[in-house]
Amino acid sequence: MSASIENPHFLLRRVHSLFGLLPIGAFLVFHLWENSQSRLGAEHFNEKVVGALQDLNYLPVIEILFIALPLLFHALYGLAIIAKGRADPLRYRYMRNGMYLLQRISGVGLLLFLLMHVSLTRISGIIDPTIRADLFGHMQMALSQPPIFALYLTGLLLAVFHLANGLSTAAIVWGLTTSAQAQQRFAWFCVGFGLLLMALGVHGLIGYLTAPGLADGFSASLAGSAT
Ligand code: HEM
Repeated sequence: MSASIENPHFLLRRVHSLFGLLPIGAFLVFHLWENSQSRLGAEHFNEKVVGALQDLNYLPVIEILFIALPLLFHALYGLAIIAKGRADPLRYRYMRNGMYLLQRISGVGLLLFLLMHVSLTRISGIIDPTIRADLFGHMQMALSQPPIFALYLTGLLLAVFHLANGLSTAAIVWGLTTSAQAQQRFAWFCVGFGLLLMALGVHGLIGYLTAPGLADGFSASLAGSAT
């Protein structure tokens, strides 16, 4: 079928691409920035970061409409693209096969990671309000176990690669980089963007392990009042 607006596959493919960038890609950048504030400690993180978000009006509606549903569509249509297993010559004319394969592998890995991550944080927080009240402590405890820390580092790498590589292919899809030279230049920009994002994410993960938790803050204030 032709690449026209009347072809539903063409349209769905564009929506899949758009959702990968907005809102999901933008949310990923926001989420990593938000978590990088873990280094400011439990009190700041629980009150100023998580607390401020939890106070937003219509938060569940925003989360479902602007995060969960676009992500669900992107993931399901992504799985359909993988199942079809056919390279789109329009997109991959200039792409190395390795990157094409890695985009798919990182998508599937990311789906598994996100299921684990959402269960550990959002779903656990709904089931147990004490987790919701101290998300910093909850994450600090989880990340202090080396296998979980390794899992988060892997999930971060998958997400950052998938977004940075996706950004460079999306620019081709949307006709923003048409010449081989422009695609090469933009690919280098995406490498830089990915490295910055990875640094932000690692900074956040380490922040949970090095910043004071609620119990540390409490004992520090007790020690302070005793002197
Ligand atoms: C943090 C979550 C995610 C973000 C930010 C994201 C972002 C992106 C972006 C920007 C693209 C490039 C679109 C294009 O080339 O036009 C893309 C492609 C893709 N994504 Fe995702 N994605 C995420 C999760 C997932 C998940 C969970 C899957 C599930 C399998 C997935 C599967 C795919 C596939 C297969 C492609 C390649 C599409 C193609 O080449 O036609 N993505 N993603």
